[in-house]
Amino acid sequence: MSKCLICGNLIQPFISFGKMPIANGFLKMEQFKKEYFFELKVAFCPKCTMVQLTEFVDREKMFHENYAFFSSTSKMMSEHFKEFADEVQSKYLSQKDPFVVEIGSNDGIMLQNFAKKGIRHLGVEPSKNVAEIAKGKGINTISQFFDEELAHKIVKTDGQADAFIAANVMCHIPYFHSIVAGIKILLKQEGIVMFEDPYLGDVIEKTSYDQIYDEHAFVFSVSSINYVFQQHDMEVIDVSPQEVHGGSMRYIIAHKGVKKVSKNVFIQMEREKALGLNLPETFDLFRNNCEKSRDSLKTILVDLKNKGKKVVGYAATSKSTTVLNYCGITPDLIEYICDTTPLKQGKFSPGMHIPVFSYEKFVAEKPEFALLFGWNHAKEIMAKEKKYSDSGGKWIVYVPQVNII
Ligand code: SAM
Ligand code: TMP
Repeated sequence: MSKCLICGNLIQPFISFGKMPIANGFLKMEQFKKEYFFELKVAFCPKCTMVQLTEFVDREKMFHENYAFFSSTSKMMSEHFKEFADEVQSKYLSQKDPFVVEIGSNDGIMLQNFAKKGIRHLGVEPSKNVAEIAKGKGINTISQFFDEELAHKIVKTDGQADAFIAANVMCHIPYFHSIVAGIKILLKQEGIVMFEDPYLGDVIEKTSYDQIYDEHAFVFSVSSINYVFQQHDMEVIDVSPQEVHGGSMRYIIAHKGVKKVSKNVFIQMEREKALGLNLPETFDLFRNNCEKSRDSLKTILVDLKNKGKKVVGYAATSKSTTVLNYCGITPDLIEYICDTTPLKQGKFSPGMHIPVFSYEKFVAEKPEFALLFGWNHAKEIMAKEKKYSDSGGKWIVYVPQVNII
């Protein structure tokens, strides 16, 4: 029996998705034989309510100089992070010469908004290729993993921060206590932490099990986040649900007792209880829903194949790795996946080895059916593909329900 990474209590595994490869590990044919797999199993902690993986992939295997996720591929995310940066600036940076630190800053999608305004900033981004892109845009970036030790070094060289920000990275870090201890050291007494990640409430309500993959060591809720930060004498002072990435939660945190706690925090924690996010039964039901979703999707794809229809995947997202491998979607069911990321094109999807081609192939071939792996970018994709849909192209979706639209 494993112990909780947050509180040390015994955790209760509730689903295994089986053997999984690295979600962003797009690979060439000659690499198939040496592909790395681990068991993707998820557990719930009945004491602190944190949902977490039971087995972790070494960070260097996921975040390196060939990291395949480039934040700026989505225009909508770029707009979203501008709004995030504006909120930080307008609400929390009125002091003289403020200093902002972002971890997981990737290609600078967020920090560019501070850099343009001449605000002192630092990006901490271990994946060298994306960090180089940010540096090229004039964004101060160091290519290292953030933890308590690095926090001490940053304080020595740059001083403490007024704002510590992060998006879609806090949930990636199993050594979470070291991160929070680092934040405690780095943050000024009046400073704030603002970060967002996919939200457990949305995952449960939408059966969006594809939010679970190697990089996502945790699926957070307000209750579990408040528990961790309280252990470091900090507290959640406000929360705000976000539509991005299929449903995220933004957390605003401060040193304990320094700022007023908004009633939004208590309201959201009550909602979580009403949703049963503190009860093991909720996760048993989730497992049943995942199994139903998997079986329906597989049935649709096999039926279409038997009818001689051509199906392709749309967007080789990290999430698609869980869906493809859990459902056993082989290249005979999906001919290829189209994706706009050059680093993924010409390679094969992790585990199931479906070829990834450029978006232009999709435009040229207009296949009859497209399986929407990029459902979290649906608004942007549907607007872009209006012509495809209007001319009879059909979308296979699986969140919140398996359907053809
Ligand atoms: N913030 C961007 C966004 O929301 O689009 C990028 C998110 S990406 C999914 C996660 C990023 O976190 C990767 O670029 C990865 O290299 C970085 N990362 C992983 N562990 C980290 C750590 N300990 N410290 C700082 N960055 C980390
Ligand atoms: P993510 O879901 O892990 O954020 O990955 C997004 C992937 O979707 C990335 O590889 C780029 C791809 N994509 C497209 O191919 N076309 C699009 O229009 C959008 C928005 C994303």
